[in-house]
Amino acid sequence: MKSENRLIIVSNRLPFRYTEREGRIIVTPSAGGLVSSIGSYLDKAMGPAPMDHARPVWVGATELRTRRLAKLLASGAQLDGGRYEVRPVALPDVTRDRHYNGFSNSTLWPLFHYFPSVARYEQDWFDHYRVANQLFLGTLEQTVRPGDRVWIHDYHLMLLPAMLRARFPDLPISFFLHIPFPSYEMFRLLPAAWRTELLEGVLGADLVGLQTHDHAQYLLKSVQQLLGYELDLRTVRGRAHSTVVDAFPVSIDPARFREAFDDHAVVAEKNLLRRSTMGQRVILSIDRLDYIKGVLQRLEGYEHFLDTHPEMVGKVTFILLIVPSRDAITKYRELKEGIEAAAGRINGRFGGVDWQPVVYQYRSVNHKKLCALYQSADVALITPLRDGMNLVAKEFVAARKDRRGVLILSETAGAANELGGAILINPTDRDAIAGALHAALEMPAEEQSLRMAEMQQRLTRYDVVRWAEDLLDQLDGAVAIRRQLQVKEATPEVRQTFLSAYAKARSRWIFLDHDGTLVPFSKRPADAAPGKPLLALLGQLAVDPRNAVAIVSGRDRDTLGAWYGSLPVHLIAEHGAYARPPNGSWSVPDWRTEWKETVIALFQQFHDRCPGSLVEEKTTAVAWHYRGAAQDLGFLRSRELVNVLNDMARSFDFQVIEGNMVIEVRPRGIDKGTAVRRALEERPGELVMAIGDDRTDEDIFKVLPIDAMSIKVGMVPSFARYNVRSHEDVLALLGSLAATPDPAVVMAV
Ligand code: UDP
Ligand code: G6P
Repeated sequence: MKSENRLIIVSNRLPFRYTEREGRIIVTPSAGGLVSSIGSYLDKAMGPAPMDHARPVWVGATELRTRRLAKLLASGAQLDGGRYEVRPVALPDVTRDRHYNGFSNSTLWPLFHYFPSVARYEQDWFDHYRVANQLFLGTLEQTVRPGDRVWIHDYHLMLLPAMLRARFPDLPISFFLHIPFPSYEMFRLLPAAWRTELLEGVLGADLVGLQTHDHAQYLLKSVQQLLGYELDLRTVRGRAHSTVVDAFPVSIDPARFREAFDDHAVVAEKNLLRRSTMGQRVILSIDRLDYIKGVLQRLEGYEHFLDTHPEMVGKVTFILLIVPSRDAITKYRELKEGIEAAAGRINGRFGGVDWQPVVYQYRSVNHKKLCALYQSADVALITPLRDGMNLVAKEFVAARKDRRGVLILSETAGAANELGGAILINPTDRDAIAGALHAALEMPAEEQSLRMAEMQQRLTRYDVVRWAEDLLDQLDGAVAIRRQLQVKEATPEVRQTFLSAYAKARSRWIFLDHDGTLVPFSKRPADAAPGKPLLALLGQLAVDPRNAVAIVSGRDRDTLGAWYGSLPVHLIAEHGAYARPPNGSWSVPDWRTEWKETVIALFQQFHDRCPGSLVEEKTTAVAWHYRGAAQDLGFLRSRELVNVLNDMARSFDFQVIEGNMVIEVRPRGIDKGTAVRRALEERPGELVMAIGDDRTDEDIFKVLPIDAMSIKVGMVPSFARYNVRSHEDVLALLGSLAATPDPAVVMAV
C-alpha cells in the first residue's frame, strides 16, 4: 500500500456536533480548549486547500449514528471545507454515557483537577470506558495506513495508546493530556487495577505530552511508584518498549484574534456592546460550565470588591459568559443553579433599574462575538481553581492589538506559567480578587501596554503551530529511541556472524556481569557463587592471550576476590568503585561515604517493615535487597524507599540505583560504564563484547564502541544491540567462544 504520511488526530470530541432535527442533520461547532487548539493547528498548518494525499484524519465520537450521517461524513467536504477527513466512532448509548458522563467526567476529571470528593469509583463505568477505547481502536484499525502518525488526545482515551501499540507495534503514536496530571497522592486514589491499566495505557505511546513540567514530573513519579519502571531522564523503559514524557504547553493562533481587531463585523459587535454597557468599565469572564473554573468563588470576590469599593458601584459591569457543558451530570446542573443564584443575589443587593452589576449569559458565542467581547473588556477575570492550561486567558491577550486591558489570572491555571504579565491571584482568596480588580481598574495605560506586549511576544513565539510541530518533531525522536531500545533477539545467524568476527579478532575484551548473567538469582545473595564448570569456562577464555576478560559486578571486593580471584581475569567491584587487574591488587580511590550510617539506619527500618528483605553493606555502598520478601510488600516498600532516598539525595552526595530487586546507594560518579570506558582506554580491543541483565549494565552498553557486541539478558528494552533469554544462553555463547578454533594454531598444524 502507498505511504501517505498522514496525521491522524483522535479525540473524544469532534470539531462539530451532529444532531438531527425534523429529519435534518444540524451541525454546530463544539466548544472547549481541545477542539480550539487542534482545530486552529489544522487550519493554520494545512492551509486552505491541502494536497489531497496528505489530508489529515480526525477520529472522534458522534452522538448521532444514522446512515445518512455516515454518508455525509464519508463525503467530508460539506462539514469542514475538506481540510480534514472526519471518521466518526459510533458508541452505543450506554457505553457513551458510562464512558463520557461516568468514568471520564465523574471519575478522572474531578480527580485530575483535585476534587477527590466529587470523584466516584464505579467498576461498570471503567468497564465501559475500556469498551469505548476498544471501539476507537476498531475505527483506527480500519483507518491507519503505512506511514501514518497517530496523535491521541486527552483523558477520555488513556487506554487507547497501548491497545493501538499491541495492534501496530511500529506505529508512531503520541498522546497529549490537555488536563493536569495530578500528584501521585491524588492518582493513587484510583483502584490499583485501574491506575495500572491507565498508566500502561498511556505508555503505549512513543511520546506522552503534558501541559506543564510539573504534570510531566507527576506522571513520571506515578510510573516509578506504581509500575517501578526505570527512567532515563524523560524516557521510561517499560516492559515492552520505551516512552518519552515531556511538557508542551498548548497554545492558540494569536493572529486569528489579533486580525479580528479591525474586522467590520467585530467592530459592529463592539459598538453594540459599548451601547449596552453605557460607558461602564467592563470586567469579563468566559468559561465552560465547570466547577473547576472557580465561578462561585469569583462571584464572591466580585461581591467583596463592590462591598469594599462602594465608589465603583454603578460604574462597572461584570459580563459573565458561561458556555453550556456536560449538563447531563448532576454536579454541573447544580453548579448552574448556584451561579444563577449568586449572580441574582449580587444583582439584587447592588443593582437598580438602570444598572446590573452582573450580566450573566448561558450560551456559546461565535468567533466574532468572542473577539468583540475580548476587545471590549477593561479586565479579564479568569480564576479557575485548577486548569490544565486555559486558552481563554491566552485569547484575551492575543485579541488586544491595542495593548489595553488587564488580565487577572489564577496561579493554578497552566497558563500562569507563561503569562507573567497577568496579575496572578489565588482563586479562593476574596481579598486577593477584590484587590486585583481594584489594581487592574486603576492601572495606567503604559503599564497595561508593557504587560500586554510581554505576553503577546510569548504567544507569538510559541503559538499553536509551534506547539504541535514541537511535539510531532519530538515524536520522531521518541520513535527513534523506541526502535533503538527495542528487543532484538540474538538469532543463530547473529551468533554465527559474531563467532566469525571473534575468531578473526587479534585482541578482544569480554565484559561480564555476574548475578543474573553468569549465574541465576538466589534469594540470598551469598548463595549465588559461581560453580566449577563456569570457573573452568571463564578460565579457558581468560588464558587466551588475545582475550581480556572482566567480571563487572555490584558485588564487593572480598566476594569477587573470593569467587574469581584464582582466575586471570579483571575484577571490577561495587559497580566500578574498585578495579583489579588479573592477579594484581585493588585500586584504592577515596570515595566519600559520610552518609553511610544514616542510610544504613534507614535500610534497617525498611528491613524491619519488610520481612525477608536484607541489608548489605559494602565498602562504598549500601544495598537493600527485597528478592526474599513477599512480592507485593517488597515492591510497595521499595517504592517508598526510593521516594525517601530521592529526597535525601538532595542533601547528600550519593546516587540511588535501582537494580533487579535491589536498591543501592553509592557515591555519585561511580557507575559500571565509567569503569568500562577506563578499561578500554588502558587496553583497546579490536572486538568488544559485554553481557549483562541489570539496569546498571545499561551504563556499559551506552559507552561501548558502536560495533561492539552488547547483549542484554532478558527480553526487555535495552541499549544493548541484542537480547538473549537467560543466563543459560550466555553460558552457551561463552562455550561457543571457548570452542572457537584459533586460526594461528590451525595454520601451524
Ligand atoms: N469557546 C467556545 N465557545 C464559546 C466560547 C469560547 O468554544 O462560546 C472557546 C474559547 O475560545 C476557548 C475554549 O472554548 O478556545 C475554552 O478553552 P479553555 O482552555 O479556556 O477551557 P476548556 O473549555 O478547555 O476547559
Ligand atoms: C476540556 C477537555 C477537552 C474537552 C473540553 C470540552 O478542554 O480537556 O477534552 O473536549 O474540555 O468538554 P466536552 O466535555 O464538551 O468535550
